[in-house]
Amino acid sequence: MGKWRVAVIGCGMFANKQYFPYIPTAADACCVAACDIVEERARQACEEYGIPEWYSNVDDLIDKCNFDIAINATNIPAHHEINMKLLKAGKHLISQKPAALTVGDMDMQIEQAKKSNVLFTCVPIHMMRPDIRMAVQMIKDGAIGRVHSVKCTAAHGGPEYWQYREADPSWFYEPGAGALYDMGVHGIQQVTGIMGPARRLVAMAATSVKQRRVRSGAYDGKLIQSDKIPDNYIISFDFGDDRIGLVSTGFCELATRCVPLEIFGSEGTISFDPPGYIFANPKVYIDSLDSGIRGWVEPMDWLRPHPGSFNQCCCLTDMVHALETGEPPILSPYHARHIIEILCAIPKSLEIGGYVELHTTF
Ligand SMILES: NC(=O)c1ccc[n+]([C@@H]2O[C@H](COP(=O)([O-])OP(=O)(O)OC[C@H]3O[C@@H](n4cnc5c(N)ncnc54)[C@H](O)[C@@H]3O)[C@@H](O)[C@H]2O)c1
Repeated sequence: MGKWRVAVIGCGMFANKQYFPYIPTAADACCVAACDIVEERARQACEEYGIPEWYSNVDDLIDKCNFDIAINATNIPAHHEINMKLLKAGKHLISQKPAALTVGDMDMQIEQAKKSNVLFTCVPIHMMRPDIRMAVQMIKDGAIGRVHSVKCTAAHGGPEYWQYREADPSWFYEPGAGALYDMGVHGIQQVTGIMGPARRLVAMAATSVKQRRVRSGAYDGKLIQSDKIPDNYIISFDFGDDRIGLVSTGFCELATRCVPLEIFGSEGTISFDPPGYIFANPKVYIDSLDSGIRGWVEPMDWLRPHPGSFNQCCCLTDMVHALETGEPPILSPYHARHIIEILCAIPKSLEIGGYVELHTTF
């Protein structure tokens, strides 16, 4: 039995693939409860992963179960209410993205975490990725000079297209969810994590695929009406000081050979391979007047050995490390709040057809 007692709320595709199997190895932790409004899913998780307790609602979980850390992996629109309940109950919390749908709700969660004196972190985990950490260190060390732009593509063909799931994926196409909240968050976290807070943005979007067919899992063949909200976005950022960035995101790229992330500086480029379970070191192009070298190099691990296999449950490693050492967690809720401000600014930009200023920072 691990020392830190973890409860997972939402036993869907992500919890089953990325949390339950890895909790015992991510930290000195064990999963003590699985909770899902679909009772069967909570029971199944308990059977499959040897979890002792299951619950069909978060109120019962809070009342009856003894746990320290909650991971909220429910549907996006359910996050805020569940997060507030867990924080009020004094539980350390890791929230799936986005933790809230408005900056005001996110402020409430951050304030509640302070009041309850608990740690609150938010995924995605890009800022923990070994390839991104290496790039951030290289930028700090001046490897590519002054960084002036970044481009990121965070897109796939849709959750019904490429992810096998037992739960009905229709909710991804309803207002309050959608490609921007599900995938856009990934691109936005990467570009802001590298460049810092954005000052303003301008966006373009389209509702490109208006009906979709589920391609695997329990709902294989089901038709989904997907014409209520955009599924295809291009977002441009101004980070100030003549630094800019671009995120393309959505559920409309069935396949791509595009580099997912590139960072451009006055003396070079950092270019990333598609993420997988092993995040390869990024490739670096150096243009050095001093040494007369111009070309691509493959950086070696120099700070510490490459962690090898890496998974999404690293958010628990981050949380437990912060709890045990008192160091701040990497997965900051302030960064998450800036991303939520951006998510809210994008529809405004579409509406006015122009720039929207941003105010939060991290
Ligand atoms: N790379 C990533 O970071 C990544 C990838 C995929 C999904 N996600 C996120 O993970 C979360 C879950 O996505 P998924 O793909 O597993 O979806 P899913 O539909 O497979 O699972 C969601 C589960 O939450 C349960 N649920 C909904 N409301 C609930 C409530 N009030 N209380 C308890 N359970 C509730 C549902 O019954 C379902 O079993 C979403 O926030 C999604 O954006 C993240």
